[in-house]
Amino acid sequence: MSVSLTILGIAGSLRKASCNRAVLSAAQQLAPKDSPIEIFDLEGIPVFNQDNEDPAPARVAEFKKKIRTTDAILFVTPEYNYSIPGPLKNAIDWASRPYGDNAWDGKPVAMMGASPGMLGTARAQYHLRQCFVFLNMYPLNKPEVMINNCTERFDEQGNLSDEDTREHIRKLIHALANWTRQLQKARSK
Ligand code: FNR
Repeated sequence: MSVSLTILGIAGSLRKASCNRAVLSAAQQLAPKDSPIEIFDLEGIPVFNQDNEDPAPARVAEFKKKIRTTDAILFVTPEYNYSIPGPLKNAIDWASRPYGDNAWDGKPVAMMGASPGMLGTARAQYHLRQCFVFLNMYPLNKPEVMINNCTERFDEQGNLSDEDTREHIRKLIHALANWTRQLQKARSK
């Protein structure tokens, strides 16, 4: 029997009919019972302004608290202009500040992304990985889940119906849970 843990799921799109939000919902359904995904919606996180970082706005304080009380992070992000969307970058920046109070520090993390294009957010994901270096996060290297032609993978109700994609997501969540447990075990020694 594995130790229970919690995963915080964050979608990089605010769009109601977002493919990435729908992929995150699917991930929530596919997560093992002992590693549930709780979603934090970035709606209401303001544009970052360093003048306001201490004390942070209430929604940011709530976000940081949620990050600190979960065991691992799962980002599901679109690609905007070959990088991550502004709202997601803002949220990452807020939670990393003020200096010395980085809520991401030491967190295991995985990512996925969906795009109607051919490369399935590959470029955005590598930009996101670059941020993890300064944030001192522990990224899962594989599997990589880059969902291309995403609009073809949903049914008319907006549910992720493509079984191959669902299987890739299932594998990624299991790998994140295992990675998180490995890190926790190593830290407890
Ligand atoms: C895009 N899109 C896009 N797609 C891609 O594969 N590579 C890219 O660089 C971009 N750039 C980009 C910039 C901006 C500002 C927008 C609004 C869109 C298309 C994008 O993948 C598409 O709109 C997705 O549907 C967005 O994800 P959600 O909202 O469906 O999750």
